[in-house]
Amino acid sequence: MTDKNETNSSEQHAQADDITMSGGGLYSLATKGAKDVIDHATPLVVDAINALNLDSSLTEFKMSDMGCADGGTSLSMVEAALNQVRQHAEHADISVVYSDQPRNDFNALVSIVHDLTDFDSYVKRIDRVYPLFSGSSFYLQAVPDNTLHLGFSATAMHWLSTKPANITNHVHMVGASGEELRAFSNQAKKDWETILACRARELTSGGRLVLINFCRDSQGQYLGNTGGVNMFDNFNENWKEFLSQGIINDTEYENMTLPQYYNTVEEFSDPLTNKSSDCYQAGLRLENIETRVVPCPFAEEFKQHNDVQKFANGLIPTIRSWNESIFLAGLDSSRPLPERKQIIEDYYDTYRQQVVTAPQEHGMGYVHAYKSIYKV
Ligand SMILES: C[S@@+](CC[C@H](N)C(=O)[O-])C[C@H]1O[C@@H](n2cnc3c(N)ncnc32)[C@H](O)[C@@H]1O
Repeated sequence: MTDKNETNSSEQHAQADDITMSGGGLYSLATKGAKDVIDHATPLVVDAINALNLDSSLTEFKMSDMGCADGGTSLSMVEAALNQVRQHAEHADISVVYSDQPRNDFNALVSIVHDLTDFDSYVKRIDRVYPLFSGSSFYLQAVPDNTLHLGFSATAMHWLSTKPANITNHVHMVGASGEELRAFSNQAKKDWETILACRARELTSGGRLVLINFCRDSQGQYLGNTGGVNMFDNFNENWKEFLSQGIINDTEYENMTLPQYYNTVEEFSDPLTNKSSDCYQAGLRLENIETRVVPCPFAEEFKQHNDVQKFANGLIPTIRSWNESIFLAGLDSSRPLPERKQIIEDYYDTYRQQVVTAPQEHGMGYVHAYKSIYKV
């Protein structure tokens, strides 16, 4: 007989495993905001490359893009980075290691990076660049010790390695409290330290990280909570309404707990500034951390075109691209798949109607901590 804890634990793992972005290049097409965030970070990447002190004697340069999804959102940043490398190290062979979890749509990633799609890839413009593709999680080391010059990641490391608990009255840790919140913050602390420990091993001495992660800023802002309707509260209220209408049951409501955590600046900084921490001991140092808000691109465009349908047609697929798989996996697997899919359609349709009814109230502004880190 399986006891309740075992069942819960395997369900929790199943949910962490169910994180997948939309496939077939749809992720990048739907997430213009994520590209804006990476483009804003490009000057930090260029600065990091300048600080590496590369020279013409270098024979091999390696950078990584961890949690890259289909790679479309980082093409411009990677091209700018590689052009910068070329200015210093004109003879080096360059490897770009794209990594994501094994269930990522690697076909889309390979096609986009190798310029087989409508995306405009840098591969045809940069000599001796070798894109490599890895299914290693960022909770693992993806390249050998002391070989990585520059590690990059955007909008990915908020996904925890496992869901530490179901949240009983919300869908996200931003609405959790007490023991449930503590379970998330403990898991997030462990996970952040694991991510950094792996990078500390990968980096060359003097190597750099530019990490752009969702955060809660000093004004309490976070993704989808930068004014107007709070996106996560809205997810929760709609999901609760489905519960009260009997469309979903109590277990399905609670299963829809996103295995994510948004660190504060202090939480990000702690292992990099606390001299007794393993990360500090391993040589990682925080050069700079700052938070920035990137406004929702669809809400910004709406101010110009004023077309509510166009606005909703942009915003809702963006939201779906990163959380649909979790909502779907939260539903009881004994329901026939078409029924589960219909619930999900209705769920996003509810959100869509709300956007159409009160467009000025909605949007998904991005709130990130931008970090520059180096290894001594
Ligand atoms: C929102 S997308 C970000 C994609 C891209 N970096 C960007 O900024 O547009 C988050 C990505 O993180 C990946 N991810 C989640 N957990 C991961 C893990 N443990 N290791 C590697 N990638 C992970 C997801 O599969 C997804 O592709």
